[in-house]
Amino acid sequence: MAPFLTRLLKALCESSLRILLLFFVVLFRSCQFVCVRVLRAERRKSVSGETVLITGASRGIGRCLALEFAKHGADTIVLWGRNEEKLSSVKKEVEEIGTSRCHFYRCDVGDRQQVYRTIQKVQEDVGTITILVNNAGVVHGGTLLETKDDKIEETLRVNTLSHFWTTKSVLPTMIARRRGHVVGIASTLGLFALPGVSDYVTSKFSLVGFYESLAVELKQQGHRDVGVMCVCPGHTTTDMFKDLTTQSFSLTPQQVAEQTIEAVKTNQRRVILPRVMHLTWILKSWLPGSWMWNTLYVTGALKDMEKFCTKR
Ligand SMILES: NC(=O)c1ccc[n+]([C@@H]2O[C@H](COP(=O)([O-])OP(=O)(O)OC[C@H]3O[C@@H](n4cnc5c(N)ncnc54)[C@H](OP(=O)(O)O)[C@@H]3O)[C@@H](O)[C@H]2O)c1
Repeated sequence: MAPFLTRLLKALCESSLRILLLFFVVLFRSCQFVCVRVLRAERRKSVSGETVLITGASRGIGRCLALEFAKHGADTIVLWGRNEEKLSSVKKEVEEIGTSRCHFYRCDVGDRQQVYRTIQKVQEDVGTITILVNNAGVVHGGTLLETKDDKIEETLRVNTLSHFWTTKSVLPTMIARRRGHVVGIASTLGLFALPGVSDYVTSKFSLVGFYESLAVELKQQGHRDVGVMCVCPGHTTTDMFKDLTTQSFSLTPQQVAEQTIEAVKTNQRRVILPRVMHLTWILKSWLPGSWMWNTLYVTGALKDMEKFCTKR
């Protein structure tokens, strides 16, 4: 009995200590968040007069980003995608808002040579890109054993590698002109995993790492005038996850676009949407793995993903 009581007491002490530490971490992060917001709000930058390139701009979040940048006075907006009809319709919407300089290009971002060729054409036609938004993405759905090899490769080429090619193309000019912003649309699935989308989750975890590396690399080299930001939205009501039945904590593409632009203006490094997801992220790093599984189970996320995969 005595060893059992000792073990129980020890376990209780350890859990209380963890909860106490967690409380202080949440408190510290909240204070840090408020301070950073206040300080950065004083150094807001404007996006008016900027030349913005958005990949995956034919629909969903990319379309809303284009419209939002137009509302905020961007000088030139360049839209990339594969569906020219849809790109042309977004171009019209952008022009109706008042940005007369809007161009669209058909480009499969999963094809490196096509990305390099199209960037060169854009630079010849439009000039220097000052804000790059890497947004294009795909999801297939299926367990690792169900997913075909070429689908896995496509996900990584479109969702991750394309960010390397576009960023490498525009970064030298941004550094030389000491002006620019590189924005990547990752996902909360770049912070924690769900079953049935391992290729997608891998592509988004890689993006979180890519933007973190890029930010520290540029800082170390003294290029502080080039902003780097990674956005991690949760479920958003677009075509991409339309088969997902859950609507809890869902965002609209409009909300993602608005908050992305606000974050560019306040030069934030990482944006997690909705904000409440910060808590999941903190909990993930502090609590045992089984808690994360239980959270996903209780919230119904596991069942939702199962349904999502069977519908695909
Ligand atoms: N929806 C969500 O719940 C959610 C949550 C977190 C993060 N995200 C991320 O947000 C980004 C935008 O997603 P969304 O929800 O707006 O999805 P969406 O409505 O399906 O739009 C995807 C966009 O990516 C483009 N695209 C796909 N493959 C492409 C390729 N090979 N080359 C060029 N463009 C390509 C599509 O254009 P075309 O069809 O014209 O090629 C389309 O404009 C993605 O990176 C996604 O992973 C989405």
